[in-house]
Amino acid sequence: MTVPEKEWIFARLARYGQEHLLRFWDELEPEQREALWEEIDRIDFALIERLYRGGMDDERVRQLAARATSPPFFRLGDPGNPIPPGEARRRGEEALRAGEVGAVLVAGGQGTRLGFDRPKGMYPIGPVSGHSLFQIHAEKVLATGRRYGRPVPLCLMTSPATHDATVTFFAQHGRFGLAEDQLHVFCQGTMPAVDAASGKVLLADRGHLALSPDGHGGMPAAISSSGLLGQLHRRGIRRLFYFQVDNPLVRVCDPEFIGYHLLARSELSTQVVRKTSPADRVGNVVQVDGRLHVIEYSDLPEEVAQRRNPDGSLAIWAGSIAVHVFDVDFLRRMATEAERLPFHLAHKKVAYVDEDGRRVEPDRPNAIKFERFIFDLMPAAANAIVVEVDRRTDFAPLKNASGHQEDTPETVRVQMVALHARWLEAAGVSVPPGVPVEISPLVALDADQLAANVPHDLRITGPTYLGPTLTR
Ligand code: UD1
Repeated sequence: MTVPEKEWIFARLARYGQEHLLRFWDELEPEQREALWEEIDRIDFALIERLYRGGMDDERVRQLAARATSPPFFRLGDPGNPIPPGEARRRGEEALRAGEVGAVLVAGGQGTRLGFDRPKGMYPIGPVSGHSLFQIHAEKVLATGRRYGRPVPLCLMTSPATHDATVTFFAQHGRFGLAEDQLHVFCQGTMPAVDAASGKVLLADRGHLALSPDGHGGMPAAISSSGLLGQLHRRGIRRLFYFQVDNPLVRVCDPEFIGYHLLARSELSTQVVRKTSPADRVGNVVQVDGRLHVIEYSDLPEEVAQRRNPDGSLAIWAGSIAVHVFDVDFLRRMATEAERLPFHLAHKKVAYVDEDGRRVEPDRPNAIKFERFIFDLMPAAANAIVVEVDRRTDFAPLKNASGHQEDTPETVRVQMVALHARWLEAAGVSVPPGVPVEISPLVALDADQLAANVPHDLRITGPTYLGPTLTR
């Protein structure tokens, strides 16, 4: 690559007040200059300026929240649903047997709250096995393919922050049994962080900008520009089950959920749990003018969060667990229109080098990051539906380090053990109180499958992991 003259780059940056990015240019080796130029060249500085000047879009969210109501919903397994659960399950199974379903796992986030310095998917969460989140997810995808006789492709989104470590981890573990052509890793884009006070792009070091992943809303653009979306479509994949890396309880490619999506002719379906309090730290799935939206917990005005129905229940009750099904055609349409997804601004701590080239590790938020959110696609989707799932059995997100009150490794493991103990009890195997048990997805994806697969003579007396060979 040819690097333009410094003066030329300077003039281009100066138009946006960003010429400080060349402060250390003269000290850099030629290949360092090339790397810095590549980063600079990829940035739309006019956009950064517009976003920074535009500030937080509080007013739009306030107006949306003022008119928000809770959406109509299905409840997983509820015979009272407008579509009977059995019918939905059969329809979803049919789609899985026809090989029409793929999975997208987003794992590009930096997971700073967890205080784990590797990609969150590598966290050893298994209560007995110590298996990683990645292994548990990959085994669910593998087991689903085996159950329905057609492999489910797993599309794994990384970011420059997590890519290399993730790829190496999967390679070291033989892709956890997934075939080579079943795992597709694609990397999302980045956005620069700017100094909150001045709007100037921060330098991470003398030769690099402070770049961070552009949010999970970068998924449609990334999966499309990598060529993967087109490839999936040519292979006959028509729906994509989308999930986050942090929830080991997610029912990957659940046929009943997929069935509601198909029978309701929805382009985007999403799972929710009932909020336990107005301040529950989940996104709020709401309806405004017949369209679905998500309003983040941090953006929902207090008076709206506190609203109650006459029976005392929360008016805004549907908490997003960020599990969706997308029509591939919808995503293809959205990938070209993805530029229309708004950016959200977040105040964050971002390390940088100052004017003298000294590295600064701020102890309070000093920067603004720009991220797109996948759920901002919702209002654009035709017939979008909401499916309520049970928090105890379907949602145990790993967000925080040990010692916090909620969503820690300990709380997640407790929920995993409780769920698997219940499956065992239902299969006629008693689990002594306090004894940790864990079931590999390769043994069972649900209670019914466990009942069919569990050895008759199984007795549990101590910590037990039921793996593919049913070892303990
Ligand atoms: C998210 C949702 C919230 C929901 C909750 C459920 C947002 C803004 N909020 O909260 O509505 O109730 O999950 O657990 O998403 N990721 C990327 N690339 C990125 C950023 C994130 O792939 O650039 C991935 C992460 O790896 C992770 C997921 O997206 O798998 C969620 O990211 P995170 O920032 O942890 O979201 P939360 O704030 O916890």
